[in-house]
Amino acid sequence: MQTFVFPNWVNRFTVVSIVGGLAVAGYLATCLFGAIHPEIINVGHQPKQPVPFSHRIHAGQLKLDCRYCHNTVEKTGFAAIPATATCGNCHGGNRVKEGATLGIVKGDSPLLEPVRVSLETKNPVLWEKVHDVPDFVYFNHSAHINRGVSCVSCHGRIDTMEVVTQVEPLSMKWCLDCHRNPEPNIRDPQLVTALDFKPEDPEAYGKEWAKKLGIKPNVSCSTCHR
Ligand code: HEC
Ligand code: HEC
Ligand code: HEC
Ligand code: HEC
Ligand code: HEC
Repeated sequence: MQTFVFPNWVNRFTVVSIVGGLAVAGYLATCLFGAIHPEIINVGHQPKQPVPFSHRIHAGQLKLDCRYCHNTVEKTGFAAIPATATCGNCHGGNRVKEGATLGIVKGDSPLLEPVRVSLETKNPVLWEKVHDVPDFVYFNHSAHINRGVSCVSCHGRIDTMEVVTQVEPLSMKWCLDCHRNPEPNIRDPQLVTALDFKPEDPEAYGKEWAKKLGIKPNVSCSTCHR
């Protein structure tokens, strides 16, 4: 008497299709999650840089103001990455003879070789971009910096980072959440680069400065899509 209704290969087929089915379902769920929560995708983005530049050393320990290097941030939409000449103020090295005032901090460090080559050849160091909103979004640094929004609200404690990491989603919802309720993020515009600043009563402080500056962020589509 025949005891098996199905031949043996059907069992194997069943296992394979269950495993395959789960894999496909997992893949689709991941895609869907990404589509619904596009904001999470770039958080933690931390590309490898040609020189291991440390904000913890330069902005934290040495207390260089952000604007010493990102010197367009309060004048234009774009926060310029410094030219190598700025690094050369301190890391000129022995091989660079023009420009009498070049410093020689760590002048023979192998980590700074790309900096010295760039100073000699005038070819820029090719830094990888960390933060990037899509081209159909209009963003402007000066419109925030001059209105009392600190770098820390959008970039976190850069002054403690060995390697710059994206800490905020930069999604539309993220922009709008603050545009609808800006007060907790408003401070004296003189203090926008003091990333460790903490007022005694944050709520009252934010309200006071938002009022003093007449802060009223736009939420119409054309503010950010023009
Ligand atoms: C000595 C020069 C220097 C100082 C001072 C400095 N930076 Fe930078 N910054 C750089 C360089 C070089 C890069 C590009 C390499 C990298 O990403 O680490 C950079 C990258 C960044 C980025 C990422 C840019 C991107 O591609 O998205 C942010 C954000 C940033 N800096 C914020 C700050 C803030 C905030 C401060 C002040 C607390 C500061 N920086 C101080 C030189 C500097
Ligand atoms: C105001 C002076 C100053 C400027 C400007 C400056 N640095 Fe530095 N940098 C220092 C000092 C000081 C140290 C060393 C800290 C220490 O003793 O470890 C350092 C350390 C470094 C190191 C680690 C070197 C090693 O061998 O440990 C790198 C890499 C570096 N800087 C890159 C840069 C780059 C890239 C720029 C330009 C974007 C820059 N620095 C601008 C002062 C400066
Ligand atoms: C309101 C949020 C916000 C504030 C405040 C802010 N940034 Fe940014 N930053 C961004 C966004 C968003 C980008 C990506 C812009 C793009 O892709 O066009 C960015 C990009 C950058 C870059 C890369 C170059 C560029 O412009 O794309 C640097 C450098 C930078 N920020 C430095 C700073 C510094 C320094 C401060 C404080 C003085 C600061 N940011 C304050 C949101 C902010
Ligand atoms: C932490 C709070 C905060 C975040 C996050 C933020 N903004 Fe703003 N934004 C402001 C404030 C405050 C103003 C200034 C409002 C005023 O001048 O009254 C402003 C102004 C602007 C302006 C200038 C508007 C004008 O009328 O000229 C643009 C453009 C803008 N934001 C775009 C963006 C975009 C795009 C994002 C997200 C990538 C973003 N903002 C994220 C707080 C924020
Ligand atoms: C304060 C700035 C801001 C305002 C105001 C704004 N957007 Fe956006 N929008 C963004 C940003 C930033 C992105 C990119 C999101 C990303 O990369 O995940 C975006 C993306 C989009 C996208 C692409 C799909 C998506 O969700 O990524 C559409 C469509 C869009 N916005 C439509 C609108 C419409 C319609 C309005 C008015 C009701 C509006 N936006 C108002 C900042 C804004």
